[in-house]
Order: sequence, then C-alpha cells, then structure tokens
Amino acid sequence: MRAWLMESYDGFEKLRLAEVADPEPGPGLALLRVRFAGLNPADAFLTRGMYPAKPSLPHVLGRDGVGDVLAVGTNVTTVHAGETVGILRGVTGVEVWGTLAEKVVVPITDLVAVPPGWTLEEMAGAPLTFLTAWQALTQWGDPPSPPDSGSVLLVTGASGGVGVASVLLGKSMGLTVVALSRSAEKGARLKDLGADFVFNPEDPHLRKTVLAGIAPNKVDLAVDNVGGAQFNEVIAMLGYRGRISVVGRSGGVVPEFNTAMLFFRRNRIGGVSVGDYAREAAQASWKEICRRLDAIGKRPVVDSVFRFEEVKEAFARLARGPMGKVLIRVAG
Ligand SMILES: NC(=O)c1ccc[n+]([C@@H]2O[C@H](COP(=O)([O-])OP(=O)(O)OC[C@H]3O[C@@H](n4cnc5c(N)ncnc54)[C@H](OP(=O)(O)O)[C@@H]3O)[C@@H](O)[C@H]2O)c1
Repeated sequence: MRAWLMESYDGFEKLRLAEVADPEPGPGLALLRVRFAGLNPADAFLTRGMYPAKPSLPHVLGRDGVGDVLAVGTNVTTVHAGETVGILRGVTGVEVWGTLAEKVVVPITDLVAVPPGWTLEEMAGAPLTFLTAWQALTQWGDPPSPPDSGSVLLVTGASGGVGVASVLLGKSMGLTVVALSRSAEKGARLKDLGADFVFNPEDPHLRKTVLAGIAPNKVDLAVDNVGGAQFNEVIAMLGYRGRISVVGRSGGVVPEFNTAMLFFRRNRIGGVSVGDYAREAAQASWKEICRRLDAIGKRPVVDSVFRFEEVKEAFARLARGPMGKVLIRVAG
C-alpha cells in the first residue's frame, strides 16, 4: 500500500509518500481501506516534536478517518468485512500508524457506524474535534454536564474544527453563542450555523464590543482554541464564576498573565484533553453528540477535500485557518 511516512521530527514538509507492506489485523483489530482521512493541528504539532506522544519512526499520521472493513482479526464478531465505519479517537495515528495511508489497522472498540444521513466526508473529520468540544462544554459539572440553558458561551477560533463543533453543540444545549473569527466570510458561515453573535478578535475594542453585544450578561463559559495575546481578553469578559475550557494554542503562548484576573470573580481555567477519554466514555459521548446534531438538524462542516498526493497542501490549508475540517480523499 501507499502511505505518507513521517521519518523525522522536522515538520510535515518532510513527509514522504512511499510504498510499504500492508498491515495485518491481529486479535481485536480490523483492517480498513481508508476512504477519507481528517487532518488535525495535532498532526502538524506531532511532526515537529511539539506533542506529548513521540512515536517511533517511521510513523504514519492521521487520527480521524472513515473506511471500508477489508478483514478482521481472530475472535472479532461485532465488525464484518464490507461495512463502512468511522474511527473514534484512540491510539490510531498517535501510538500506531494512522489514516494517512491506503490501509489502516484499528482496534474494533474505536470503530463507530456512520450516522444515518451523514456523508463519508462529514463522518471522516468529526470524531476528534466533536469529542474535544464535548469535553470542553461538559467538563465543569460532576458528573460532566452541560451548562445551564441561556448561559453565554464564547468560542475563540470558532471557524476551526473544534470551534465549529463547539458552536453546534453549544446551540444544541440552548446556549447563547458568541463566536470569534478573523474573517468576515467565515463569520457569516458561523451565523448560518447558529452563532448568535460573531465578532472579529482583532477588533482593538473586542472586550467592550462583546460585552455591549451580550449586555447585561457576561460570558459564563469560554472554549478557547487560540490562547496567545487574546487569552487575557477572554478572562476579562467572564462573569462571576465564569470558566474557560482551554483547548488549543493556535495563537501561541500567553505573553503576560496576572492571577488577579481570576480571584475577585472566582473565575476558573481548566485544560481539555481529548486523549483523556476512556473508550467507553468516548463511545457514549459520541452517541450523545450525534443525537444532539440530529436534534438541531446540523452536520459536521467540511472545509476542503484534497487528493491523497496533496497532503502537504492540505496541511498548509489547515495552517491558514479553515472553515470546518480539512480532509484527504484516500480512495474512492
Ligand atoms: N486539548 C485537546 O484535546 C485538543 C483537541 C483538538 C484540538 N486541539 C487544539 O485546539 C486548537 C484548535 O484546533 P482546531 O482543530 O479547531 O484547529 P483549526 O481547525 O486549525 O482551527 C483553528 C482556528 O483558530 C483560528 N486561528 C488560527 N490561528 C490563529 C491565530 N494565530 N490567531 C488567532 N486565531 C487563529 C482560525 O480561525 P479564524 O481564521 O476564523 O480566526 C482557525 O480556523 C489547536 O491548537 C489544536 O491543536 C486541542
């Protein structure tokens, strides 16, 4: 089969398309012919050694995808050759070879059916970002629970994979959603998806503009995909006991941070890690995510689909800031 090999930690620019042996499905595993793979910023971070996992080389990236089952390992009875399935986040593409290959071997416990009415493209890029958004939205309750209906949710980097998922799931919870995007065009798309307000994070008066828009309320929960200089602005928009779920760092490190921003309003900051999901929790959360998307009549959003030979161009598109998910058509 053909696969994009990562042979160094020098960035996605160094990936190489090569011919390698087909993988074999061992016990508890299924062999898939990959139809579509989804890209994530984590793949690019991994190629630069900026990710907790440091797989041995050569490695094949690709955590998301959808494919046809070609064969299953011994004792597998719940998945059958000929079925088309999606991959929930797990070891694929991180600890073992992933979906930037014509074939991939996946634990059957990480496989899910394609929800009725979804295209293969919609399925291929959704699991990692929607599970991340779900954790970001529900991690503050014990047990994890959605925020109160009517609360104000702020989403930074709202046009990206996690951002779109947060907007859609936030609307499914009855939240008032404020989305930030640097692009007016993507802002209009976010409104179509249900965002109540869209603002440009580069507005020098961002805090005032947002607070005037949502007055007399303040932000109850922020899903922050960007970090960087904007992070302190996000804290300043929080109301009493407001929370920030920290997801990403597309905007780099936070240059300056004063803890006094937190204590008077008892604000809280909590990290999100999609890798923390146990398999059963990932499966249960995925079911709930699909149920919610169905209830609001929405689907995952695809930004663009690149040919298998264009993986580097696809990574470049992701770095520029997509509107939804960047996919690779591997076969079919
Ligand atoms: N913690 C976890 O478990 C977890 C899981 C998944 C992802 N992540 C991280 O979360 C972040 C977002 O992931 P994603 O899949 O949504 O990424 P994405 O699809 O690339 O989208 C990120 C969005 O952020 C905005 N953005 C990008 N660079 C920016 C910059 N320099 N300054 C301000 N805004 C910028 C862009 O929106 P506009 O162009 O519209 O402004 C872009 O669409 C990444 O850092 C990723 O590694 C973490």
